[in-house]
Amino acid sequence: MSAIESVLVENRVFPPPEAAVKGARISGMKAYEALCAEAGQDFEGFWARLARENLAWTKPFTRTLDESNAPFYKWFADGELNASANCLDKHLGTPVENKDAIVFEADDGAVTRITYKQLLARVSQFANALKAQGVNKGDRVIIYMPMTIEGVVAMQACARIGATHSVVFGGFSAKALHERIIDAGAVAVVTANYQMRGGKELPLKAIVDEAIAMGGCNTLKQVLVYMRTATACNMVAGRDQTFDEALEGQSTECVPVPVNAEHPLFILYTSGSTGKPKGVQHSTAGYLLWAKVTMDWTFDIKPSDVFWCTADIGWVTGHSYVAYGPLAAGCTQVVFEGVPTYPNAGRFWDMIQKHKVTVFYTAPTAIRSLIKAAEGDEKVHPARYDLSSLRILGSVGEPINPEAWMWYHKHVGGERCPIVDTFWQTETGGHMITPLPGATPLVPGSCTLPLPGIMAAIVDEVGKDVPNGSGGMLVVKRPWPSMIRNIWGDPERYKKSYFPEEMGGTYYLAGDGAVRSEDRGYFRITGRIDDVLNVSGHRLGTMEIESALVSMTELVAEAAVVGRPDDMTGEAVCAFVVLKRSRPTGEEAQKIATQLRNWVAKEIGPIAKPKDIRFGDNLPKTRSGKIMRRLLRSIARGEAITQDTSTLENPAILEQLAEKL
Ligand code: WTA
Repeated sequence: MSAIESVLVENRVFPPPEAAVKGARISGMKAYEALCAEAGQDFEGFWARLARENLAWTKPFTRTLDESNAPFYKWFADGELNASANCLDKHLGTPVENKDAIVFEADDGAVTRITYKQLLARVSQFANALKAQGVNKGDRVIIYMPMTIEGVVAMQACARIGATHSVVFGGFSAKALHERIIDAGAVAVVTANYQMRGGKELPLKAIVDEAIAMGGCNTLKQVLVYMRTATACNMVAGRDQTFDEALEGQSTECVPVPVNAEHPLFILYTSGSTGKPKGVQHSTAGYLLWAKVTMDWTFDIKPSDVFWCTADIGWVTGHSYVAYGPLAAGCTQVVFEGVPTYPNAGRFWDMIQKHKVTVFYTAPTAIRSLIKAAEGDEKVHPARYDLSSLRILGSVGEPINPEAWMWYHKHVGGERCPIVDTFWQTETGGHMITPLPGATPLVPGSCTLPLPGIMAAIVDEVGKDVPNGSGGMLVVKRPWPSMIRNIWGDPERYKKSYFPEEMGGTYYLAGDGAVRSEDRGYFRITGRIDDVLNVSGHRLGTMEIESALVSMTELVAEAAVVGRPDDMTGEAVCAFVVLKRSRPTGEEAQKIATQLRNWVAKEIGPIAKPKDIRFGDNLPKTRSGKIMRRLLRSIARGEAITQDTSTLENPAILEQLAEKL
């Protein structure tokens, strides 16, 4: 069956294996349905029960959900707790305290282990160092770190003292970092001198310096630098300190600061449909509750598990399923510094074998690239490794195509591991729609059914439910504890982006299109309905890339960016560019395209580089001057133009834009 065909008629069903059902926390569909019914009958009671069972409160809450100022919802609002205490201190005096919290594998293969007790001491010491630097409860701290134990320590240490962290992915540019330091009003940046990826030493601190040199970071007082490698970096006296300097003499005990349930645990910037990234603000209690509960439900995590989520802490997946969830669940997790293809494309399989990973969570893009590598080189095929420790596989970040699903199931999971295809977003804090490993019959390419308590639905423009089989917009009709609380500093944008008036103002609009199957009512995500692209599971705003291109003012007159499907990366960035000079062709066009790509990498980060660049004398516009994006999408896909082009001012340019470099 071809890939296209199998998407259209996906009728393969994989019931959960006996072994997965037996002893699962949610065992069988009846158990799932019972939880859904509990949430349906007593919505607040359901969440209150989970919050009491799963979190340790320093001051118990008496009120579950406050909807009085919707859509600014509050959960457990009179309760107090500390997130770090709920990940670390709570394991003291239990068998968990002496087990490995993190098994860290560096880029070069060196392995470091740290137990829960040791991690608590490290986090406490770092928290004391932050306090000594004058970082207080409520202050914002930017974390610009590689994947390391120290990255997790920095996040947990902020949580411990009630500082709000904002992690910026280490692949983002100085400009992106600068923008976030200012928007968050950060008082400190935690970074490393360099990061190691694929055998290369890449600068981080130098980028921090560049960002600060752009000016306007008036709130910033401190930069703490983890010396990941032996190479020295520039240090500014009075502002910069190494970890060693900052930690010297600090006690390894630090009483966790109780914060209100709604206190912002973190801000994480993500792309929206305008040029400016959104600072997604999360709460403490509701967020942590869902990170913990989804570890239990979606991954059915057990004390004996070795969990490995390959996501970077710079993304939300690395927050919920590296920095918080696994620790709150008390399991051992693997943290990996490097890339899946170094020293070869067998790295993931080698690490699963070596660390006896039982639950493995990664992105479709990684799977697709490893399929390609394994097909080209038998030595890096998963069949060459002992993957028998695995019991559950997960997928996240983008739709997984059924062919990749089947390969993952067969060659990695040995046809015995359920695959949980987890749909969720930066804004949702944790999983929303996902199979349960011990209950849900799986259909490749479908994220199946919402978790209990998550009132997901598919509706039309005015919020009316559409029948199964018809496409529509994915919404969540009722609030849930781990939902976004605000866009940092921009409540109007929060309301406008997520709670459309036309739907009544209280439905959460995910920004994705979806369809439910006619037979089972299973959800399948069909892709973003706004101007957000998903490239290798990374969210990119088309407007952000457009602004980056036109900011090259000497060269670029106009630019329009659209996505097109890509076999490897899911979607690819396609940029249509009008230059201030005449339209280039041949080698010259190639040269300018390279220049533009490098510029975008510098402005945003290498992940945003356009794969295709097309030059035209003009862009297709309606007579009223609007860029015809739908038309550009067809051109990018190489499709025949079926749209009405009669309103087009200059039809001749369509041919120019269809021309590949
Ligand atoms: C997409 C990542 C299909 C979707 C956790 C969403 C998915 C965006 C899936 C959020 C999935 C995520 N199937 N699409 N299992 N998971 N997406 O904020 O378009 O980086 O809106 O969060 O990724 O990306 P974000």
